[in-house]
Amino acid sequence: APSDPDLVERARAAKARLGEKVFILGHHYQRDEVIEFADVTGDSFKLARDAAARPEAEYIVFCGVHFMAESADILTSERQQVILPDLAAGCSMADMASAEQVAECWDVLADAGVADVTVPVSYMNSSADIKAFTGRHGGTICTSSNAQRALEWAFSQGEKVLFLPDQHLGRNTAVRDLGIALEDCVVYNPHKPGGGLTPEQLRDAKMILWRGHCSVHGRFSLESVEDVRARIPGVNVLVHPECKHEVVTAADHVGSTEYIIKMLDAAPAGSAWAIGTELNLVRRLAKAHPDKQIVFLDKTVCFCSTMNRIDLPHLVWALESLADGKPVNRIEVDADTEHFAKLALEQMLALP
Ligand code: 13P
Ligand code: SF4
Repeated sequence: APSDPDLVERARAAKARLGEKVFILGHHYQRDEVIEFADVTGDSFKLARDAAARPEAEYIVFCGVHFMAESADILTSERQQVILPDLAAGCSMADMASAEQVAECWDVLADAGVADVTVPVSYMNSSADIKAFTGRHGGTICTSSNAQRALEWAFSQGEKVLFLPDQHLGRNTAVRDLGIALEDCVVYNPHKPGGGLTPEQLRDAKMILWRGHCSVHGRFSLESVEDVRARIPGVNVLVHPECKHEVVTAADHVGSTEYIIKMLDAAPAGSAWAIGTELNLVRRLAKAHPDKQIVFLDKTVCFCSTMNRIDLPHLVWALESLADGKPVNRIEVDADTEHFAKLALEQMLALP
């Protein structure tokens, strides 16, 4: 539906009143009505890097989810305030690994005698606490656009990797990009004693994958790939690496949201594409490329409900609060967590 013209006008007016004081970042999964007001759009890596691009801006309005706003707070100066227009915009995957569970897992690894040779690699989609754990233990953060380089680096530092919290990104990257055997990947289940693994399994494994997943990408199935291939002959299947291993294996191309966008920009007119990622982005891509056939990989999968919480009314509310000098919804990571989380984030930014 078209945006309420009154709200569009209010957002414009508040943004104009703020001028250089505000910098608005928008993740590719955001609604069109929100993306329209973003100064910069990107995947989670690009947004982490760009967050610090406007040191003069007093406010960074993050149109994305909670872990992204935390990362922006960690990577920007003390003076800058990061605002998340709806505090309920979390990420179900990030919620699958708590600080207590991860500390317990590290104890399990220590009891098996492998903690010393294990390097934690945590997906950006994790809380600041998990990033701090990663930094404390000499690990790195990764995103879907640099997971291969992050794992290569980690294996230059130790013998094993504890990959948090997305088992699919961890497995897909290890198997597809590093050539690690599927049998050398084990899944640590935080809801079972000892992660549901024996000390021997932990000693034999190369990749210890946390049992987390994305509730959106986890729903694409092998059948959806087979169905679309039967329906559209010659279709290119392009999916995000948060999809299950069998989906990624059956796809033609795999990459982050930024990669997906670039791939379609470079695609020839008349080509057909089935995209396995969040629906706002797929719809926007279909609109932007009327000369190509772009379909959603599986019609039963829907939006990321938490990304969608940031809508025009919330954006207007946040911008007007800033313009009135009464900031709402500030995201602030405490100093100790920030210190260690920053080590892990900076390690990611320093990856070759
Ligand atoms: P990227 O934008 O890094 O591809 O990540 C997708 C995602 O799920 C963000 O929550
Ligand atoms: Fe989290 Fe998945 Fe939504 Fe990304 S798409 S924010 S990983 S639930």
